[in-house]
Amino acid sequence: MTNKFHTVRPVANALLPQFFVETYGCQMNVNDSEVVVSVMQEAGYSLCNTIDYAEIIFINTCSIRDNAEQRIWGRLEVFNHLKKKNRSLKVGVLGCMAKRLKEEILSHPAVDLVAGPDAYRKLPKLLESVNQGEKQIEVNFNDLETYSDISPVRTDPNGVSAFVSIMRGCNNMCAYCVVPFVRGRERSRDPKSIRFEVEELVKNGYKEVTLIGQNVDSYLWVDPNHNPDQNLNFAKLLEVVALIDPKLRIRFATSHPKDMGNGVLYTMAMYPNICNHIHLPVQSGSDRMLSKMNRNYTRERYLERVAAIRQILPECTISTDFIAGFCDESPQDHADTLSLMHTVKFDQAFMFQYSERPNTKAAEAYPDNVPEETKTQRLNEIIALQNQLSLESNQRDVGKTFEVLVEGPSKRSDLDLFGRTPQNKVCVFPRENAQIGDFVKVTVSSCSSATLIGSLAEKSSSRK
Ligand code: SAH
Ligand code: SF4
Ligand code: F3S
Repeated sequence: MTNKFHTVRPVANALLPQFFVETYGCQMNVNDSEVVVSVMQEAGYSLCNTIDYAEIIFINTCSIRDNAEQRIWGRLEVFNHLKKKNRSLKVGVLGCMAKRLKEEILSHPAVDLVAGPDAYRKLPKLLESVNQGEKQIEVNFNDLETYSDISPVRTDPNGVSAFVSIMRGCNNMCAYCVVPFVRGRERSRDPKSIRFEVEELVKNGYKEVTLIGQNVDSYLWVDPNHNPDQNLNFAKLLEVVALIDPKLRIRFATSHPKDMGNGVLYTMAMYPNICNHIHLPVQSGSDRMLSKMNRNYTRERYLERVAAIRQILPECTISTDFIAGFCDESPQDHADTLSLMHTVKFDQAFMFQYSERPNTKAAEAYPDNVPEETKTQRLNEIIALQNQLSLESNQRDVGKTFEVLVEGPSKRSDLDLFGRTPQNKVCVFPRENAQIGDFVKVTVSSCSSATLIGSLAEKSSSRK
């Protein structure tokens, strides 16, 4: 094939061992695992869909909170056990924890190979050396690596929705966050390769893509040939992707309150296939905490951004992230978070208790001085309030009809299907003759705080 972004998959080499990939952490890691599968298949290895028959296990890790790392250490114990039963089994630790802990992970008896997020092209080479009997480690950053030319191999069986990385790394240095240390400098991916990847997904029947980056609003492609007309910001990229196919649904995450401008909102308003949902992590409602967290926005600026969303996109939902119990957080700071929640009425939220991460600004400069019980209590208050707000948000949808993209059978019953509304709400409804991958109209009749429940509105209007 002549297209520089096209990869032709070679036939698997039956002599090479089968590999399995286990993924933890965020959407970036899900997509990176798909890159790993692509790199390995290019080298002739074949993917094993169960860990039981794998000769190579890759575990793609997350370091965001201490409990994320504890889970990985637990898995390594399990792998160690498997290795006692199968002496030729090889284990590779990939991702953020590999980058953060380097030799410390390599010295675990289960581990043969450690590779950081920018080292995946080298996996086949590293495995060759492992097979000669030596543990291997490659964790250097490569500020140019975007895996642009690699077509990720989609391993999710649903074949409906895919993540597409548009950038890697992060330059923001939020005081609590390990990501800049494990993912390196921010770099934006060539828009031509993004477009090519999305076009291929459409050809392969995908109905939805989610463009992902730690801070999509700082996406910036600067033309290497210095033609300013070819430069692209996120709003423009969103438009390029939206124009690929009016039937393709577009989502994106994560937006940053300090950078999200009205340009993105106007692009969303212009293209009906861009979903009306914005994930806009606030972390705290207290200016004192936001400043200490180095988030570079105030409560007022956040509320101003929310007002802009509501004005330009009245149907848009807003989800967020919170951290409870950051360094020095006082009862008043916590109360400010609760009051911000009441003001914004978030539709959904991911809520965490602060976990100190080594080497971050917070770990170096601020004592982790909110007692664990207080962190837990505050987190529970945030969760309880959010449950109520999510329920109220869902109740406002009862009686309305939404276009739902069907993703699969519902967890509770095979007679029901589930999908999501453009606003990113999970919706369950009786199957009737709808199929996975269909767009159907669902009228909501009831709800819980997590789910909308409804039934098909007009079967004839479903589009394929
Ligand atoms: N890039 C995204 C977030 C990536 S991490 C952004 O800037 O919003 C996802 C979420 O994990 C963060 O929004 C934050 O709420 C949480 N998080 C990050 N570091 C954490 C830590 N040390 N302790 C607890 N939660 C943390
Ligand atoms: Fe972490 Fe902040 Fe970057 Fe998000 S923007 S990944 S929270 S440093
Ligand atoms: Fe975790 Fe790395 Fe993502 S630390 S949240 S997997 S970028």
